[in-house]
Amino acid sequence: MPKLEVEHIQAFYGRAQALRDVSLTVDEGEVVSLLGANGAGKTTTLKVISGLVRPAAGTVKFDGERIDGKSPEAIAALGIAHVPEGRHIFPGLTVRENLYLGATVRHLRRSQLNDEVDRVLEFFPALREHLDRRGWALSGGQQQMVAVARGLMAKPRLLLLDEPSLGLAPIIVKQLFRTIGEINQKERVTILLVEQNAPAAFSVSRRSYVLETGRVVLGDTVERLVRNEMVRRAYLGLGGAESSGA
Ligand SMILES: Nc1ncnc2c1ncn2[C@@H]1O[C@H](COP(=O)(O)OP(=O)(O)OP(=O)(O)O)[C@@H](O)[C@H]1O
Ligand SMILES: [Mg+2]
Repeated sequence: MPKLEVEHIQAFYGRAQALRDVSLTVDEGEVVSLLGANGAGKTTTLKVISGLVRPAAGTVKFDGERIDGKSPEAIAALGIAHVPEGRHIFPGLTVRENLYLGATVRHLRRSQLNDEVDRVLEFFPALREHLDRRGWALSGGQQQMVAVARGLMAKPRLLLLDEPSLGLAPIIVKQLFRTIGEINQKERVTILLVEQNAPAAFSVSRRSYVLETGRVVLGDTVERLVRNEMVRRAYLGLGGAESSGA
């Protein structure tokens, strides 16, 4: 049984249909990525999974249990953490306070919260010296680290990451994706990663799906997708597999 099973989802904003037919699976322990251009429906797909958008049709199962129709709070309590696009850390709160908020669903005591901060900082040691700094005073890369670290504070079983590479310098993207791989391995957390940066997504995921105007049009192992003509042209900026001379 897949850890996450999304089947034939349709979703609307008012009358506008954002998702037409989205099906995907993520197995226990996997990192799976979801690629697509602006407006393809990537964020909406994550919002359907975490309960922020209610689908008009289709089902979402987590550990075999239907979760579509549940509230975002109930879904978070099952162990699904959503790190939203654009980070959304609280600018007026310190890094430590931002991290505490990630553990709200766990109802921990202060001392346990601080233990958890120590645990997640093992993945982001650079944040330690900024724990008392306010959100507004952080760089984009630091904010993204806080956003992912806050997601980990929930000790999730499934982590949803929405465009973690957005706006970050290439070297920071590389480090962040290496850390995402470590999080997957050491915390044994299953990850569904939304990205437009296909090389970054492929560096950490085993399988990937491609979304176009609300439909999943491709889904395969990364090994096979990097040989796919359409993926090479649209997402890797390369010519056809034949012309590469590989
Ligand atoms: N709150 C909203 N109200 C109305 N329409 C929306 C809303 N959010 C998204 N949409 C529309 O739904 C479609 C899918 O949007 P979505 O945000 O899921 O795309 P995306 O793949 O995440 O794009 P991006 O890469 O730009 O983040 C788009 O046509 C978008 O304009
Ligand atoms: Mg988006």
